[in-house]
Amino acid sequence: MGLFADLKIISKMVFHRSHGDDHKTRLDNFYGVQADDYDDFRKRLLPGREQLWNELVDNGAANGVVWYDMGGGTGSNLQYFGDNIAQMERVYVVDLASTLLNVADRRIREQGWENAKVIEADATTFLPEEKQVDVVTFSYSLTMIPDWFAAIDHAYEILKPGGRIGVVDFYVSRKYPSENHKRHGWTKRTFWPAWFSRDNVFPSPDHVPYLHRKFDVGYFYEGLTKIPYFPNPFFKMPYYIFIGKKPSE
Ligand SMILES: C[S@@+](CC[C@H](N)C(=O)[O-])C[C@H]1O[C@@H](n2cnc3c(N)ncnc32)[C@H](O)[C@@H]1O
Repeated sequence: MGLFADLKIISKMVFHRSHGDDHKTRLDNFYGVQADDYDDFRKRLLPGREQLWNELVDNGAANGVVWYDMGGGTGSNLQYFGDNIAQMERVYVVDLASTLLNVADRRIREQGWENAKVIEADATTFLPEEKQVDVVTFSYSLTMIPDWFAAIDHAYEILKPGGRIGVVDFYVSRKYPSENHKRHGWTKRTFWPAWFSRDNVFPSPDHVPYLHRKFDVGYFYEGLTKIPYFPNPFFKMPYYIFIGKKPSE
């Protein structure tokens, strides 16, 4: 992907800011103009997704499971399953933005993945066909879901005991994070939330503590990533990867 294509998508992100009276309208307005170019640019903007999928699949989360990818967008994460997708019972891409789901639907048909399906729904309230599910993932979607507490609580409800949640997203630390968790300085903690909020992305200091409180921790990683074309390449954005298990009752 070249500089020209990058500039095209960046200008769409800058000049087509989210607008509309409700969350779904804002998402469709924002993503409608970018849907077809979404994947290439986000490959460099959103790190850790392949790592999260590999961690889950390597730890047996693929065999015979029902997996819901919440806020799954264009369904690009399905590519990380490779041949493992055939071993799964069902995999669903749930999203509110029909503009992105159209791309996911086309991908699924082109790949001939008969056990994959898209669902247009709100991740905070959507009720799955199955009574309880094995895996729920959120990749860079929690920061875009206004009531992300509800999204995590809902994932907890629909997961079976021992079921797994996988999250990768941007965040900032609390001023005084728990022991063993990274602490970000004042500039990071104030600048990045303000910068991303222009696109209705809300990096939060509370995702990480809330996930640790609700689930048994299986894997946790805190990293820093360069934002493409950001004027200062040394000023990096924090992101985390979390895998947790719903405690068995
Ligand atoms: C930054 S994109 C990430 C998409 C995809 N998971 C990825 O890794 O490329 C955030 C996604 O969350 C979706 N989203 C935001 N709020 C949502 C909600 N309440 N319910 C379902 N999806 C939502 C958006 O439509 C968008 O597809």
